[in-house]
Amino acid sequence: MLDGKKTLFSGMQATGNLTLGNYLGALKNWVNISDDYQTFFSVVDMHSITVRQDPAELRKRARTLLTLYIAAGLDPEKNCIYYQSHVTGHAELAWILNCFTYMGELSRMTQFKDKSAKHADNINAGLFTYPVLMAADILLYQADVVPVGIDQMQHLELTRDIAIRFNNIYGDVFTVPEAYIGKAGAKIMSLQEPSKKMSKSDENPNGSIYLMDDPDTIIRKFKRAVTDSEACVRYCDEQPGIKNLIDIYCACTGKTAAETEKEFDGKGYGDFKLAVGEAVVSVLKPLQDRFADLSGNKDYIDGVIKGNAEKAQYFCNKTLRKVQKKVGFPERIR
Ligand code: TYM
Repeated sequence: MLDGKKTLFSGMQATGNLTLGNYLGALKNWVNISDDYQTFFSVVDMHSITVRQDPAELRKRARTLLTLYIAAGLDPEKNCIYYQSHVTGHAELAWILNCFTYMGELSRMTQFKDKSAKHADNINAGLFTYPVLMAADILLYQADVVPVGIDQMQHLELTRDIAIRFNNIYGDVFTVPEAYIGKAGAKIMSLQEPSKKMSKSDENPNGSIYLMDDPDTIIRKFKRAVTDSEACVRYCDEQPGIKNLIDIYCACTGKTAAETEKEFDGKGYGDFKLAVGEAVVSVLKPLQDRFADLSGNKDYIDGVIKGNAEKAQYFCNKTLRKVQKKVGFPERIR
């Protein structure tokens, strides 16, 4: 508990172009609930290098992502927005937690299995221990709440297991975090293959809406979205394409699935797809405009980067010193 508020941590990888899934599953919820918490939002660039990156491109994407956090509505005066690689505590705690995590646990992680299948020529140790770094991110700040999409739940469960294991040995060191999953949009699927999640790394650009897509592109992608031959806007597992479009519509408009079914009762898929596209444009356009303004303000963004990294380091050192003492590292001499 800091300043009488519970603590919230979340992060996003600076890899690929951010999608509507990242926005509706995570970023939008961050903004909605941030006022109720002491918050830390990290651009997790250390996670990104588990897959080979072009250095200049990674730097550029990291800055874009950090700027997007602010454009989405997170005020950096109130929310600690920073680059993971600027705060040394993440790597330091990750090492310690590695020694409290089992190989068997890590081999069961579905993201590891997926990514190692995709990058068979580079199954590095970092890819394997990635969830431990994620646990360190969260536990460093004693986070009570971690808003994520459903795909991160397995990593969050592991974080909880590691925290509980550590606490059982050394006493109450870590807060055991809870996931926060939004009411709508927690798992946005590909527009082309509704059985697959919408992903930054999808090879088919028509499957994903990117946060920087212009309105025409967004509408065109929704018009092309894969549906079915039922010709009925109904929220059910048998119609995965339509179900996904309803999820997107609800997450953008705040309506429920039942209200949406009623609104489009008797109307064709063409009308519905257009309405979903327009709802998405009305959510993304203001974000894109704010992003364009902020990107031109280099000094302001530089100030955020510097000031918030120092703040994050200060908070994480508190946990780190405690953990280092618990595991038996010698005291520092001042
Ligand atoms: P990442 O960068 O893949 O995704 C960032 C956030 O977006 C959510 N998300 C989605 N939500 C709904 N539908 C989708 N199709 C979709 N795709 C992505 C993710 O669930 C996530 O919340 N390992 C994390 C980053 C991370 C992290 C952390 C998160 C590192 N340390 C500590 C929370 C706390 C990741 O790769 O997310």
